[in-house]
Amino acid sequence: MRIRSITLWLAGGLAAAFGLNAGIAAEGEAPERDYQVPLPEAPAGEVTFEPPAEADIPDNQYGDMVRLGRDLFMDTQRLRGEHVFNDQNCSNCHLDAGRLASSAPMWASVGVYPAYRGKNDKVNTMAERIQGCFTYSMNGVPPEYGSEPLVALQTYFHWLASGAPINESLPGRGYPTLAEPAQAPDRARGAEVYAEQCAICHGDEGQGRRVGERQVFPPLWGDGAYNWGAGMHRVNTAANFIKANMPLGKPGSLTDQQAWDVAAFINGHERPQDPRRRTLDSVDETDEIFHQHMGYYGDEIDGRRLGDHDHYGENPQGAGG
Ligand code: HEC
Ligand code: HEC
Repeated sequence: MRIRSITLWLAGGLAAAFGLNAGIAAEGEAPERDYQVPLPEAPAGEVTFEPPAEADIPDNQYGDMVRLGRDLFMDTQRLRGEHVFNDQNCSNCHLDAGRLASSAPMWASVGVYPAYRGKNDKVNTMAERIQGCFTYSMNGVPPEYGSEPLVALQTYFHWLASGAPINESLPGRGYPTLAEPAQAPDRARGAEVYAEQCAICHGDEGQGRRVGERQVFPPLWGDGAYNWGAGMHRVNTAANFIKANMPLGKPGSLTDQQAWDVAAFINGHERPQDPRRRTLDSVDETDEIFHQHMGYYGDEIDGRRLGDHDHYGENPQGAGG
């Protein structure tokens, strides 16, 4: 990130939201563009849509695919080593099995894809959107078109959206956008919020918590977490998510400023390299092309430049550059 002032930072975030991205070449064999643009704001108003109950999943082949999609969404670790190379499950950031309003629920997502996205200058299908979360949030290798995991996830989302309108953004979609913070997000203040309200579950070192083999609380930085290309590494996206959903069980209890500060603290830590770095010559270039938004990629913090490494976590596609 090159933009230093908070106003410019915020302006950059807004520009990205509207797909206005300076610095990206428009044509040629450009590397994959950023799939993680912030969602357009959901319309205000009460959340009225209710996805169907699990008990109503039909007892046939279609229903079997819905159930498989639900199971993969909740326990994405089943795909570890093949499509997933960190400790995350989809439901870590899309809460309550993708049902919870204001945590980017899947029922609100189905009707808005396929959609043109300025950032990669083409129409993205739902399958591509899912693949994006595999690449970045799961630090993974996305399942191919027509493969069982992708069909299952899509079938599950489509079923969740039963009765929802098409091509209409519904209240509850995405994460609600916070207003600009009164003071620039501050990692030191965020560290205090983290120690008091988050570390108990997410660990002093952001490593999350395991019980036996099971990751019960997700890691927020380090190898097990989302990589430098994920939407959640943006301070604004994380702040939006955190305000609406964390601490778990007490959503909405942080002040806006606390949500901004703790998001800055979390995202000021190291994590697996942005996979798009492989297609480019340097961290500088990756920073220039893909990180003109509110994040710390390429910035020096505590004497180290974040993202300046060849470490792609467990992802084997990362090895060898
Ligand atoms: C680390 C958090 C995280 C994890 C894990 C994650 N996602 Fe996401 N997902 C996001 C964020 C953040 C967005 C919104 C992007 C933005 O606003 O920049 C998003 C958006 C989406 C969308 C589009 C939503 C919309 O309304 O446009 C879909 C679909 C999706 N994710 C599916 C998945 C699937 C499937 C998985 C598991 C394979 C997954 N996500 C795992 C953070 C995550
Ligand atoms: C009581 C335990 C608990 C507390 C306290 C808590 N969290 Fe979480 N957090 C969770 C769980 C569990 C999830 C995953 C949700 C799920 O899988 O249902 C989560 C998910 C997240 C995520 C999604 C990103 C990812 O990579 O999975 C972020 C960011 C986050 N928490 C930040 C915070 C912050 C910031 C605080 C403190 C203000 C906090 N959490 C406090 C339990 C907690």
